[in-house]
Amino acid sequence: MDALNIISQDHSNMWRLAITIDHVATDIEQGAPVESAFFNAAFDYIDQFVDRFHHPKEDDYLFRLLRLRSAEAADILDQLQLEHREGPDNLAALRARVNAAAAGQVSGAQIATDLRNYTAILKNHIRTEEKTVLPLARNSLIASDWAEINQAFLDNSDPVFGEKAQAEFRQLYHRVVSLAPESVGLGGHSEGTLQPLPERTKNEVQLRVEGMESCYGRIKALKGISLEVRRGETVALVGANGAGKTTFLRTLSGVQPMSAGSIHFKGQDISKMRSDKRMRLGICQSPEGRQVFGPLSIEDNLRLGAYTQPRDQVDGDMEKIFTMFPILKEKRALPAGTLSGGQQQMLAIGRALMGRPSLLLLDEPSMGLAPLLVEEVFNVIKMLKSKGMTILLVEQNAFAALAIADRGYVLETGTVTLTGTGQELISNEQVRAAYLGM
Ligand SMILES: Nc1ncnc2c1ncn2[C@@H]1O[C@H](COP(=O)(O)OP(=O)(O)O)[C@@H](O)[C@H]1O
Ligand SMILES: [Mg+2]
Repeated sequence: MDALNIISQDHSNMWRLAITIDHVATDIEQGAPVESAFFNAAFDYIDQFVDRFHHPKEDDYLFRLLRLRSAEAADILDQLQLEHREGPDNLAALRARVNAAAAGQVSGAQIATDLRNYTAILKNHIRTEEKTVLPLARNSLIASDWAEINQAFLDNSDPVFGEKAQAEFRQLYHRVVSLAPESVGLGGHSEGTLQPLPERTKNEVQLRVEGMESCYGRIKALKGISLEVRRGETVALVGANGAGKTTFLRTLSGVQPMSAGSIHFKGQDISKMRSDKRMRLGICQSPEGRQVFGPLSIEDNLRLGAYTQPRDQVDGDMEKIFTMFPILKEKRALPAGTLSGGQQQMLAIGRALMGRPSLLLLDEPSMGLAPLLVEEVFNVIKMLKSKGMTILLVEQNAFAALAIADRGYVLETGTVTLTGTGQELISNEQVRAAYLGM
């Protein structure tokens, strides 16, 4: 991942946080209490992440070099850097107001307005950087500039840019997500980790699809798709609504007929195999729209995911899922229908994991989720990836999916039009224009 993508990802996170604050402001206007724990966590994140981490990266590297290379950048950068300098004071003032509102000294309507004024400036700032500054940088910085910037950003031992600092920020962000009201966040407090999966040999081809076609009546929804996933890889299949992503996954797992082409999995031709047998081989899917069974308990939903598995391993596997998603443990006996959207998505992923997948298929896991939770779901996928899981991730949210994918395919009306590494596709102008709009 290069520096520009890191900055863009920071922007997406900030954008989601801003939208979340707007959402909570509306709730407050309608009478919800001012939750100071949530706001303080969000402001801690902005304070520590943006003011001490994100802005220095921009000021010290990107903006400094851009001033040297582009005369037209000066005015815009002056304004942005003024906002960077004033950021901490504005935030401190807002924090004091929110705490006063929580203590009943400022009205809900007034604090909602203050919050929106703050996020409006924040969003405008991000928009200017994305729409003006980053394109300018792409056009005017020279190779040695990029080398310098990338070197600073990718130095993992650096106290500001390095892994340790980043882990701290992820922790902070997670805290914000946990504390956010259930309509936009997790509405829970705990956090867990997954036991590492055994190390696997990478690079072996796990899945090879060649010339896959599939039709609805006379309409051909897939027009000859070829795609490959190697062991341990995360592959993203991105495309607009109606491109054929879900049809592809359904054909792959055998619930939708394939009219031409072949599927090989772990070296075996499974083109004609029944879907439950494919699942037994380890092709497990978290379906579009989550599709949890509302009246059944969370625990029973998880058990359903293990119906192809030997009984004696189910309880142990369920405990592993609970370690990963503690919120599901807290609510294990409740009907799944009582969970929030984000929690249901965790359940759908957990249910797929109960089948002990050797290829995990995820159909739009971020769809319909509150913006703050989108990040959380992608963090879960990143975590699974880091444990060695092989993942085929289908998403309309191209930026987030490609950012964590090793490789990606762009699907347009049933045809793969582009393929490359995740980073190549994110940098591709065609992809940026069509899918990465902010
Ligand atoms: N059950 C269906 N019957 C008829 N056409 C369908 C059906 N499901 C999907 N399609 C059509 O197939 C195409 C691909 O749909 P889909 O695979 O759901 O796309 P995506 O998941 O990328 O949004 C679309 O044109 C859609 O209208
Ligand atoms: Mg779909």
